Amino acid sequence: MITWGCQMNVYDSARMTDVLRPLGYTPVDAPDSADMIILNTCHIRDRAAEKVFSELGRLRLIKEERKASGRETVIAVAGCVAQAEGEQILARAPYVDIVLGPQTYHRLPEMVARAARAGGAVIDTDFPAEQKFDFLPEDAAPQTSGNLTAFLTIQEGCDKFCSFCVVPYTRGAESSRPMVSVVAEARRMVEGGVREITLLGQNVNAYHGQNPDGSVCGLAELAGMLSDIPGLRRIRYTTSHPRDMDQALIDAHRDMPALMPFLHLPVQSGSDRILKAMNRGHTAAEYRALVLRLREARPDLALSSDFIVGHPGETDEDFEATMQLIRDVGFAQAFSFKYSPRPGTPAAGAPGQVPENVKDVRLQALQALLREQQDAFNQSVVGRVVPVLFTGTGRKPGQITGRSPWLQPVHVDGPQSLIGREVPVRLTARFSNSLSGSLTEEYVRA
Ligand code: SAH
Ligand code: SF4
Ligand code: F3S
Repeated sequence: MITWGCQMNVYDSARMTDVLRPLGYTPVDAPDSADMIILNTCHIRDRAAEKVFSELGRLRLIKEERKASGRETVIAVAGCVAQAEGEQILARAPYVDIVLGPQTYHRLPEMVARAARAGGAVIDTDFPAEQKFDFLPEDAAPQTSGNLTAFLTIQEGCDKFCSFCVVPYTRGAESSRPMVSVVAEARRMVEGGVREITLLGQNVNAYHGQNPDGSVCGLAELAGMLSDIPGLRRIRYTTSHPRDMDQALIDAHRDMPALMPFLHLPVQSGSDRILKAMNRGHTAAEYRALVLRLREARPDLALSSDFIVGHPGETDEDFEATMQLIRDVGFAQAFSFKYSPRPGTPAAGAPGQVPENVKDVRLQALQALLREQQDAFNQSVVGRVVPVLFTGTGRKPGQITGRSPWLQPVHVDGPQSLIGREVPVRLTARFSNSLSGSLTEEYVRA
């Protein structure tokens, strides 16, 4: 299983593995020892299709070598490039056996059987009426077993149609899983040892699952149900859209200790003109006001965001407005990208495309500022005692690692018996992407 793209693809890859396990497949590390290779692809930026074809070229050689020694190899292309360009993939790479979109992987066993029987390629990029979640094996021995943190997809697709984005085309319309199904899956995860769950969706806070009585369950209510599961210590969610941050969810950050004080809230730009061109549906002032309300509810809330530089029409003043918003808000962490035209999206054909060299300069300035803020944030927690959920051993002997409430990796010298527990740690130093700390007396010999 080769996985590119966002966490939703990571989740999907885990579920595809579950679906295939009853057929006798188990994951392997290297493609040349694989009877089936699934490439789970991402279409969000850059030359996604080219990247897929070049990887497929490599896999073709593996397939041929294995064939020479009498072993068959099924090659499947899944995910968002498959959804967007399925036909082209089969035309250009006829050695691909299966093409499947993100909404049909519950049908993978059937596709494998069809490919074996017919010996021809199978393509399934429907947006079926049934929800794949209803067809995934329930008792699939937790892919998560041994894992202390897990992703759980609760919502998929997007109806927002931002000017630059392919997601509404590759993942389809917004839909939410029923509350009961999410809670059941979370329970199984926790029984398998998971202590921290990150709820996933392209617009996770647009979640509107159905309650058994037919009423609508929002994300705040769902998080409340999950926080009642004994053993589940931490809940996170991503990615949220500023427009869907309702009062109930803001209140949940105040009232629910399990809800971690770290929020990824993409803003993309700080210029109202560009936000409008992007079809984001809010202004920069509205974003600032929202951040204030969130920080009022949860004063230690740290923010993360996504930014795009060089969206069509972006001037120096627009870019400066983005820099100003960053200075005003202050981010603990962020992702930033050069605008990348995606075929079929409105911005790709819009006037005012920004030259690459201008995008480069803007991206550098933006990333330098964000880097400064990230360092400052990491520095600001040094000296404090914070709860760390330990998830594994460190690289150095005697070291264990975990995460802070703000998703920072933390290393300490300590006993392995603490792995799986959340214990107080005094943070002592910061490095570029992690922190070190020491255990309090009580836990050193736990
Ligand atoms: N649903 C989320 C974003 C999902 S895509 C939201 O609305 O915030 C993840 C990030 O990729 C986006 O936030 C955006 O910053 C970036 N992105 C998406 N399309 C892009 C494009 N065409 N060019 C550059 N960056 C893009
Ligand atoms: Fe893409 Fe916008 Fe939907 Fe996010 S909200 S997935 S950026 S269309
Ligand atoms: Fe990429 Fe599809 Fe995720 S385009 S970012 S894998 S939703």
